Amino acid sequence: MTFDSMWSSIEPIGREASTGGYRRYAWTGADATLREWFAAEAAARGLGLVTDRAGNQWAWWGDPDAAVAVGRPGVVIGSHLDSVPDGGAFDGPLGVVSALAVVDVLKARGLEPSRPVAVVNFVDEEGARFGIACAGSRMITGKLEAGKALGLRDVDGVTMAEAMAAAGHAVEHVGPDIETLRRIGTFVELHVEQGRALIDLGRPVAVGSVIRPHGRWRVDLAGEANHAGTTLLEDRHDPMLDLATTVLAAREAAAGHGCVATVGKVRLEPNGVNAIPSRVTAWLDARGPGETAVRAVVAAAVRQSGAVAVEESWTPETVFDIPLAQRLSTLLDDAPMLATGAGHDAGVLAMAGLSTAMLFVRNPTGISHSPAEFAEREGCHRGVEALAAVTEDLAR
Ligand code: GLV
Ligand code: MN
Ligand code: MN
Repeated sequence: MTFDSMWSSIEPIGREASTGGYRRYAWTGADATLREWFAAEAAARGLGLVTDRAGNQWAWWGDPDAAVAVGRPGVVIGSHLDSVPDGGAFDGPLGVVSALAVVDVLKARGLEPSRPVAVVNFVDEEGARFGIACAGSRMITGKLEAGKALGLRDVDGVTMAEAMAAAGHAVEHVGPDIETLRRIGTFVELHVEQGRALIDLGRPVAVGSVIRPHGRWRVDLAGEANHAGTTLLEDRHDPMLDLATTVLAAREAAAGHGCVATVGKVRLEPNGVNAIPSRVTAWLDARGPGETAVRAVVAAAVRQSGAVAVEESWTPETVFDIPLAQRLSTLLDDAPMLATGAGHDAGVLAMAGLSTAMLFVRNPTGISHSPAEFAEREGCHRGVEALAAVTEDLAR
């Protein structure tokens, strides 16, 4: 299967030798290499490559605009190639590589699709560099305003506008992209499962039903820089204590509200071993069954320190196209339907009113956003077969 050779060709890109994890951040050198790889794979299959206003890449099999003109917009499959810091190999790339392999499978079967089919590579899904997840799909749908996006800064102070321009993307074009959106009749994102449900169910593939509400908040905690050896405990104003309180309160409130809460990123100033910090910035990721519960967790997390939690992104509950999900489940031998706590570009497109579905491929470790994230090769091939069946059904 062409899956295997494609997988081997991207495996080394952006991988950290020390951890085995990936650092494939948007608009960096690793990202550029992956984008070139994607363009080359598209060209090798005779697909027409289009880069949209936000930098997402679309490789079309068939003419998307002719299809729009006759009211039969395309079937889009794919995912993203970027990663979280020290991420796994599968979150994102599994969907892109599987989608390209599906084109090969369908061509080998002699399918002549009556609707065009595209493979998409969404840019900056994880938000690892500029802080906002699904930036590429949020920009084209207008959920992330261009001015706000372009002004976001990475840890080195580089703006998204500067990073995009350095990578050769026309920044002045960034904004909602109606032309791109109207080419999408249906979007199906295949993704590695980010939990252990399929192992427990003994099934290879599931269909997504719902994305639970989630958001990211920034918490700024001010302190007073001073000497670690000479400052008496009672004279200190140490923001690390407020951070500790925030983390513990978030955990306790999450348990109480049936939510999850994570402080996975922290910035300290000046970050010296023998100085009390002058400032701590922490990012709180909170998710749960409903907006009220999630917001209660965030409020509880900062109550004791008196800090303000500044909302950086919020994604309400997103329900995929349920009749479509049921159709896919039936097609795939009554594949189970799974809700997820992870965000996806498919969710952003669903929020924008597009018909969207997800397939999840079994992950024996149940771990994700970590080098331990895994899918067996046999499971990946089952995923390609499932996505091929779905694409054929939708594009026939
Ligand atoms: C993206 O993977 C997210 O859920 O944060
Ligand atoms: Mn992810
Ligand atoms: Mn993903």
